Amino acid sequence: MPTGWTVGIESTAHTLSFGLVDANGTPVAASSATVRPDEGGIHPREAADHHKDAAAGLFSSLLDANQLTAADITAVAYSQGPGLGPCLRVGAAIARGISSRLDVPLIGVNHCVAHIEIGRQQCGCQDPILLYVSGGNTQVIAHLDGRYRVLGETLDIGIGNMLDKFARAQGIPFPGGPVIEKKAAEWLGNNPGARLDGLELPFAVRGMDLAFSGVMTAAQRLLDNGAELGAVCWSLQEHAFAACVEIAERALAHTGKSELLLGGGVACNTRLREMCTLMAGEREATSHAPPRMYCIDNGSMIALLGHIELNHGRVTSLEQSAVDQYLRTDQTPVTWAV
Ligand code: ATP
Ligand code: FE2
Repeated sequence: MPTGWTVGIESTAHTLSFGLVDANGTPVAASSATVRPDEGGIHPREAADHHKDAAAGLFSSLLDANQLTAADITAVAYSQGPGLGPCLRVGAAIARGISSRLDVPLIGVNHCVAHIEIGRQQCGCQDPILLYVSGGNTQVIAHLDGRYRVLGETLDIGIGNMLDKFARAQGIPFPGGPVIEKKAAEWLGNNPGARLDGLELPFAVRGMDLAFSGVMTAAQRLLDNGAELGAVCWSLQEHAFAACVEIAERALAHTGKSELLLGGGVACNTRLREMCTLMAGEREATSHAPPRMYCIDNGSMIALLGHIELNHGRVTSLEQSAVDQYLRTDQTPVTWAV
């Protein structure tokens, strides 16, 4: 049982973030820094160098902001995977260092499960269907028999990655998702009652799975054929989000569950939140989304999952502390959720 603060280190990809939860598992605002490449996508080694350079300053600013010293830390958690190898290794090395210097337990946690647990805590959900939509991942998940089971997922790229790539091709820097959201909303504001005629894109649903690369290519083709960027951003969101909402609805129907919980960076999107609320309302279910600072990658969610796992007696020995780039949502035993 942690008696003081648990620090959480997130370093799976673009963001290095230090978060804290207190002895009750309550988080405070994290200290984060995100790589923003001048051009191109995220280069794993450059991101890792960024994380190394940013680490000491972020950790001390988090402690200062909360009027704590290192002596108040009683456990350290880190993202063990999935993610980019060089970035994960930076976070793991920092966590090992803090653990041995302060002589506190080390807990390596599953980044995807952390997105879920912060959402369950913040939204007070009991047994939801999870729509986990981020850069690297797009999954519909349900808890069953001691694991978070993946009922459906993207077969190619994550939805956020698709939005970022489409944006990058238009000269919009990372992260492109929020810019697409803004352009879509502005265009719709100027074109109230707009219809998708002439802006159709392929539907991303494949049974209970999804695929986004064809949608992205078709959206680019609309632009090449002269459609306005704002109109295409709007259509891209409508099609891609509708596909996610459809498999989430089917998951609710098949499992008989009545709560939908959003997580991951794309869950910041107001239109996606609205579509989920509409769908849930039509089937007498409820839809929940955590505050935006807990949707994007953050150290608080890592600290929270570390706190929960430690409460359930799990610690990570140095021998077991290697990172796993390909760790899956359903590989982690979940002994705390019913
Ligand atoms: P994971 O390892 O869980 O896949 P990640 O590395 O992709 O995480 P997140 O912070 O969870 O990181 O998600 C980042 C993604 O969220 C980016 O693709 C970004 O464009 C997208 N995103 C952020 N805000 C919005 C928004 N308002 N609308 C759409 N997409 C958004
Ligand atoms: Fe994430």
